Amino acid sequence: MEKTFVLVKPDGVQRGLIGEILSKLEKRGLKLVAAKFLQVPNDLAEKHYAVHKEKPFYEGLIRYITSAPVMAMVFQGPEAIHAVRQTMGLTDPLKAEPGTIRHDFALRISRNLTHASDSPDNAESEISLWFPSDEIVQWTKADEDWIIGDN
Ligand code: CMP
Repeated sequence: MEKTFVLVKPDGVQRGLIGEILSKLEKRGLKLVAAKFLQVPNDLAEKHYAVHKEKPFYEGLIRYITSAPVMAMVFQGPEAIHAVRQTMGLTDPLKAEPGTIRHDFALRISRNLTHASDSPDNAESEISLWFPSDEIVQWTKADEDWIIGDN
């Protein structure tokens, strides 16, 4: 089953939205398999956002992501990468659909509350960057068959 990396960024933490964001993903049926709350060190932020190094917003992005604690998580489910990004909405909150987290709780791309992996390759590298393999918990959720079971 596919896994994806999710970050509640400093604005989400400071605004008390960890529970709201986690709850949306949980209620959708995605299974939480790893989580930690941390202040992001500079070298981790730089590795995580290495693909944006040449972008004009890169330095501000590193300042933002290291400015206060974040909640890092891994969720698992069928097409989890797509499902989580659908629940988050488009990167720019003003372009996100109503009902998505970014539409419902944010207004600016520079304060867009969350990060979620955008491809299987990135999910794999982000999960291993943030979590050693022994921090990924394999468990059976009691209602799993009612959410992802086949008929
Ligand atoms: P995220 O999904 O974490 O991926 C890269 C992040 O860069 C993005 O969410 C935003 O937080 C940020 N970002 C992308 N584009 C811009 C922009 N034009 N100005 C400021 N920040 C941006």
